[in-house]
Amino acid sequence: VSAEGARPLEPSEDEDVLAEEALMQQRTGQPMDPQSAVEVRGLVQTFRSFFPKWDKERKTYAQKAPYHAVKAPQFAIKRGQLFCLLGPNGAGKTTTINMLTGVLPPTAGEGLIYGETVTHPAGMARIRRSMGVCPQFDILWSSLTAREHLEVFGAVKGMSVSDARLEGARRLEEVRLEADADNLAGGFSGGMKRRLSVVIALIAEPNIVFLDEPTTGMDPVSRRQVWDVIESAKQGRCVVLTTHSMEEADILGDRIGIMAKGRLRCLGGGVHLKSKFGAGYQIGVLAPPSSMDGVKEAFKELLGVEASAQSERHAAFSVPPEKEGLLPSFFNEFDRKKESLGVESVQVAMSTLEDVFLRIAKEAEEGENAGKTFTVMAPISQMPVQVMMGDTRVLEAGGERFQVVWGIDEEGNFTPVDVKPE
Ligand SMILES: Nc1ncnc2c1ncn2[C@@H]1O[C@H](COP(=O)(O)OP(=O)(O)O)[C@@H](O)[C@H]1O
Ligand SMILES: [Mg+2]
Repeated sequence: VSAEGARPLEPSEDEDVLAEEALMQQRTGQPMDPQSAVEVRGLVQTFRSFFPKWDKERKTYAQKAPYHAVKAPQFAIKRGQLFCLLGPNGAGKTTTINMLTGVLPPTAGEGLIYGETVTHPAGMARIRRSMGVCPQFDILWSSLTAREHLEVFGAVKGMSVSDARLEGARRLEEVRLEADADNLAGGFSGGMKRRLSVVIALIAEPNIVFLDEPTTGMDPVSRRQVWDVIESAKQGRCVVLTTHSMEEADILGDRIGIMAKGRLRCLGGGVHLKSKFGAGYQIGVLAPPSSMDGVKEAFKELLGVEASAQSERHAAFSVPPEKEGLLPSFFNEFDRKKESLGVESVQVAMSTLEDVFLRIAKEAEEGENAGKTFTVMAPISQMPVQVMMGDTRVLEAGGERFQVVWGIDEEGNFTPVDVKPE
């Protein structure tokens, strides 16, 4: 089966993503690479609203612009690999999975799974037999027990009742649901339902498994148990997992694709992404405004780095890996100068993949939501303050200066997660 892919709706910038696109372009019109389990050939999902919306400012009905939720990413997922689609809320992860699992017909482009075309009903029917899916939102019957769920899904996948019963019992043990095996799923907590959905996806040894945010809303202990289950389940099969947790992607993913606003932004193994984006150190210096020039001079002279971010009393410096060797002598010298410069504090942190992820999320959000505001509570006065998308330092009318810490919240939204007095 051959398939055409749609052209990217917006050009990619990252070299790994570009290289992957070039490889996929070469395969256009050709059958799937036998090494691949999944090939995403420019899948596009455009949502159109058919009902005009009332435009308050213009006082008229206006047609909403079509929204491109997935903008023709092109990538392949190897057999036996756990591929992690990492991205904040709204990145297009679920929409991509929905197109690959036959839930949502693509607007354009093509997806292939083990040589079958997902847009072809016969192809999809063949894939379904060996596919397991854990949807983002649990689809369970409240009047069936956990055990019954596994038996039903096992039977649907062609297992005998006794085999399904046996594997079901084993799977429920894996996620510590054995004591609740005969209880109705309707009475389960959110985390229990999630664990049940994960093992449903794994019943009958599927050779492709989609797990859409499998651990969202779980307590840390259950989360680790589910990681163990996924880790052992990935032996000999392809798993596609979505998450907005960098930690989860780092621990489970053989290969990670960071997605934001419908596009793939980075691609590679955790180690590769860390050495490409995350390596090096972040140094923050807090000092009186009058010393800022002296601080910057010291960094320039001793380390050869300029400030990467700066406010009146705070400067941040990124030290690239090739300059790490200079750090011990730098700190010796800087310690001597600290007093005369009146430096109040110095923070040193190793940059992580988390920083990369946040930066990518922030850039993507700013591209589309520049000017969007959020309300935070000022740390000292506890007054509500409006901060703009991406602002990190705020001085409000009350004169309070504080730092806004941005992050990805429980739901995967890029949002202020903390405020700290500066
Ligand atoms: N049925 C739909 N109609 C209109 N917009 C949708 C629909 N489903 C998803 N979207 C939008 O598409 C974007 C991507 O959504 P989704 O794939 O759920 O992202 P993710 O799973 O990465 O959080 C979001 O902006 C979302 O609001
Ligand atoms: Mg989702």
